Amino acid sequence: MNIATKEHKGGSNTQSFDRIVREVFAPIYPTIAEQILVRTQVTTGKCLDVGCGTGALGRAIARLSNVHVTFFDQSIEMIQLAMDYAYEENLIHRSDFLIGDIHKINLANESIDIVISRGSSPFWEDWHKAYSEIVRVLKVGGYAYIGGGFGTKELKEQITAHMNKENPNWRNSFKDHVKTEREALPQILNSLNPASHRIIDDESGYWVFITK
Ligand SMILES: C[S@@+](CC[C@H](N)C(=O)[O-])C[C@H]1O[C@@H](n2cnc3c(N)ncnc32)[C@H](O)[C@@H]1O
Repeated sequence: MNIATKEHKGGSNTQSFDRIVREVFAPIYPTIAEQILVRTQVTTGKCLDVGCGTGALGRAIARLSNVHVTFFDQSIEMIQLAMDYAYEENLIHRSDFLIGDIHKINLANESIDIVISRGSSPFWEDWHKAYSEIVRVLKVGGYAYIGGGFGTKELKEQITAHMNKENPNWRNSFKDHVKTEREALPQILNSLNPASHRIIDDESGYWVFITK
């Protein structure tokens, strides 16, 4: 992957990203959170939201369970917003915040019960390293749920239509990366060899579901 071509990191304009999450993407997060909790049966423990942005998915998970969420992003502005929203929604006592890069997560081995990540992986520069880091921090028996789904087919259609109207080029910054990541994933997952892994690819979107 040519790093020089990857200047877009999926949220470089924090204010406009925040507005789009609140005005357009908001309904997807509780739907996806519920799907994650049903599929993993996680109710408590430590959750890491990688590339959390403003923290919408991690907060949805926290509201529907008793997990403690570490909101993790390379952008200090995103983490500041994630912190503000966690305060507003009374989730701060079950939240902490970490600024850093997925390629070198500053967390101990086997310290996390579930890693979640939505809409961030296309922007990672070295998927083998990033997925290795995710598997490293997971406890044995822990889960990772990484992807770019929209929750349902209807939500995907609704949001795609809205975004196409706002900016017909909105997918262009990441669609090639999505394709390259998908092509690279089978080999990466096989080499990491977790207890199980599967790709969920349906009309609502695409997820990598790992059990360590
Ligand atoms: C499109 S946003 C998605 C935010 C959030 N997960 C959501 O669904 O609303 C992508 C986020 O990934 C973060 N990101 C991109 N590359 C990263 C990296 N290498 N390490 C940590 N965070 C990263 C960006 O800063 C941005 O906040």
